[in-house]
Amino acid sequence: MDTKLKILGFAGSLRIASYNKSLLRAAANLMPEDTNLEIFDIDGIPAFNQDTENNNMPEKVKDFKSKIREADAILIATPEYNYSVPGVLKNAIDFATRPYGDNPFNEKPVAIMSVSVGMLGGARAQYHLRQIFVYLNMHPINGPEVIVSFAQNKFDTNGNLVDENTQMFVRQLLQNLVNWTRKLKQ
Ligand SMILES: Cc1cc2nc3c(=O)[nH]c(=O)nc-3n(C[C@H](O)[C@H](O)[C@H](O)COP(=O)(O)O)c2cc1C
Repeated sequence: MDTKLKILGFAGSLRIASYNKSLLRAAANLMPEDTNLEIFDIDGIPAFNQDTENNNMPEKVKDFKSKIREADAILIATPEYNYSVPGVLKNAIDFATRPYGDNPFNEKPVAIMSVSVGMLGGARAQYHLRQIFVYLNMHPINGPEVIVSFAQNKFDTNGNLVDENTQMFVRQLLQNLVNWTRKLKQ
């Protein structure tokens, strides 16, 4: 039996050189044993329009939903836009939870990380995301809070996470997510 835990990660930024995408890639190398992180790019998910939710579900959204469903846990890395969650991330979540009653996030454990070039590291977006998790009926872990401020000092020019302190926090967050996921499965 395959006991490897599957974690699905996605970023709340479409930017090719996104720090949040870079943080997810760093997380893939810091995973605990017997776990696997698959990274999904939400680029290509169109703007949600409820008029079409019962027909013509875009392939990209079908793929996103099935990957969420197959995952044991979710990891989100997001920037903060105007003190909140970026529209593309909210749109992707909204699309994935439709039509009503078909929410693949239901009861999934989840962890959040955020990166910003500013001083507060995207913390405010994390709290708005936690509020969304209530309606999604997800099980977020509380810590450590991976809030990466002044990103330009933590990543090199190739997008590698070079800050050892941040690496340590990411490793701890992933370990806590895995422990929490195994506990919920018992
Ligand atoms: C529309 C917009 C709004 C932003 N608002 C915030 C903000 O409220 N707080 C913050 O810390 N950074 C803000 N930023 C700066 C982002 O933290 C920065 O662009 C970051 O690199 C984006 O993440 P990414 O590199 O993963 O794309 C904003 C950037 C944009 C484009």
